[in-house]
Amino acid sequence: MTKPPDERSETSSPPADAHLGFGRGPHFCLGAPLARLELRIALCFPELRLAVPPDKIAYTSSLITEGPLELPVLLGPPA
Ligand code: HEM
Repeated sequence: MTKPPDERSETSSPPADAHLGFGRGPHFCLGAPLARLELRIALCFPELRLAVPPDKIAYTSSLITEGPLELPVLLGPPA
């Protein structure tokens, strides 16, 4: 008799004993892979910082989402 497939491997949900930072179950965060990639990139650039003053950053005016329209950054050490 063959072993039934592991249902967990069919979903992106973490095992029940994992952290809940991205939620779990059917509404597990769709952006989790992107968020993890962004963090890995940020950790590769410890000098990462804004390239413009914070008050120069334009934000969306949408009722559905909110966030910067663009986020210019500098990767290297300060000149
Ligand atoms: C560190 C960054 C993030 C954290 C901590 C986070 C956390 C979460 C959590 C806890 C939920 C579940 C909400 C619930 O159960 O009601 C969720 C859902 C969701 N997240 Fe994220 N998230 C992050 C980044 C992102 C990004 C970058 C995107 C998209 C680009 C995204 C898109 C979504 C979407 C679409 C859902 C709804 C999924 C559904 O209801 O089926 N998230 N997130």
